[in-house]
Amino acid sequence: MSMMIDGRAMARALSDRTAASVERLRTSGVDPALAVILVGDNPASDIYVRRKIGECRKAGIRSIEHRLAADCDEVALCDLIDALNADPAVHGILVQLPLPAGIDATRVLDRIDPAKDVDGFHPVNVGRLSTGTRGLVPCTPLGIMMLLDSVIDDYRGLNVVVIGKSNIVGKPVAMLLLEREATVTVTHIETRNLPDIARAADVIVAAAGAPHLVRGYWVKPGAVVIDVGITRVIDHDGTSRIVGDCATHELDHARAVTPVPGGVGPMTIACLLSNTVMAADRMAG
Ligand code: GUN
Repeated sequence: MSMMIDGRAMARALSDRTAASVERLRTSGVDPALAVILVGDNPASDIYVRRKIGECRKAGIRSIEHRLAADCDEVALCDLIDALNADPAVHGILVQLPLPAGIDATRVLDRIDPAKDVDGFHPVNVGRLSTGTRGLVPCTPLGIMMLLDSVIDDYRGLNVVVIGKSNIVGKPVAMLLLEREATVTVTHIETRNLPDIARAADVIVAAAGAPHLVRGYWVKPGAVVIDVGITRVIDHDGTSRIVGDCATHELDHARAVTPVPGGVGPMTIACLLSNTVMAADRMAG
């Protein structure tokens, strides 16, 4: 049997360390605060935002929630971001994606002060990541690296195949892995012979958003598999469940895999909290 990497336990440990940092900052007069902006009523986004706010509370981070209507004006959204940028009591700003059609996500994300950009999506932080000078790093890729670090000491020369080229996961995780001197192949929906490419990998990061895409025969014996997928599927009896990008029941020959749920998801939120505290810490000088 392959080893299951326990994302929940690792996230709890990281959040405990974050809570201790919050306490330390408080005693020096800094009260770490995260502003969360949710536009529209996407049910999945609503669940994620509630989870993020709940975890903030547990770690002692103050959260300020801003909900805007789906048909809100992009100018109003940018004005809100300007106000949060200027507010010294706010250390992190998060705009939950996706934004409704009609709002230009690029323009909105560009508006966030890079020092408060706890998602790491601002071009300045993207640039810093790609040049290896650390700004704020996107939460899911950070969480993936921590999960991998629990089973891999040395990445030099390892073949890593990333499935998915999104700005949120695929591209930034490829940058982090390159920094560790892995040989990184980024694949996507147009990639030919994907099973053959995946089979050459020592590590697979599956972030395609395609349920059970990665089958047993795609995975080399002893490979490490990180499953970033979270797709909600409805069963015949009407109940719904979350399914990852990997057919985990076919991966007994892998060295280690992350479960869905309970793998990458909890780490993403724990990294959001740690990024918020890092931003507060840096702002405090
Ligand atoms: N939507 C899906 N993933 C993310 C994320 O990591 N951050 C934000 N802001 N929105 C998302």
